[in-house]
Amino acid sequence: CLDSDWTPLLMKWFDAHKRDLPWRTESPRDPYKVWVSEIMLQQTRVEAVKAYYTNWMEHFPDIPTLASAEEEDVVRQWQGLGYYSRARNLHTAVREVMATYGGRVPEAREEIRKLKGIGDYTAGAILSMAYGKRETAVDGNVLRVFARIYNIEENILSAKVKKEITALVRVRQDAARPGDFNEALMDLGATVCIPGQPRCEVCPLSSVCEAKAAGKEAEIPLRVTK
Ligand code: ADE
Repeated sequence: CLDSDWTPLLMKWFDAHKRDLPWRTESPRDPYKVWVSEIMLQQTRVEAVKAYYTNWMEHFPDIPTLASAEEEDVVRQWQGLGYYSRARNLHTAVREVMATYGGRVPEAREEIRKLKGIGDYTAGAILSMAYGKRETAVDGNVLRVFARIYNIEENILSAKVKKEITALVRVRQDAARPGDFNEALMDLGATVCIPGQPRCEVCPLSSVCEAKAAGKEAEIPLRVTK
């Protein structure tokens, strides 16, 4: 069985190779900053997000500042990123945080999930990265990485498989560093366990990867037509 305790291998790799990104500079992380970066990253590539993120934090450094800004200015600072509902939802949600939670992002998943524009993924990212909670944040990168490690040949876009993979992520989580664990998976997926032909020769998990063992790393996840 290839199923071993591979979490330490991943964390060691992350400590040595993690990407230097503007939203990763503080420790502990500000939940608002995690929030903004994750919303920007949802439909936009990391390279494009960097400059927008930095500009955004100059204009709206915190929740009270963004909440009191004019919508026009908020949309203007988002100009070029696309999917403008993301900016409008964020604006609405920070006003809700001011009104209901005294300006502090709530720490309970049920509460944070009620905020406009925050889904399961973003909730998990904020709770793990800013608050150190043992929450999962399963995005497309994480689905691909897990489909390969466990040689999952089913459609990773299905709700059933997503649920199964989320359960596997929970088992493998680093209890002491849940946010770093989630970001390690994202970095591995973005730089090593990439779509198409992955770079197994530099992967810290190649020795435990079931798709690799089966010679199927380039086929998994299966491409499905929606
Ligand atoms: N993509 C989405 N969230 C990310 C993060 N926190 N770090 C790097 N890439 C990401």
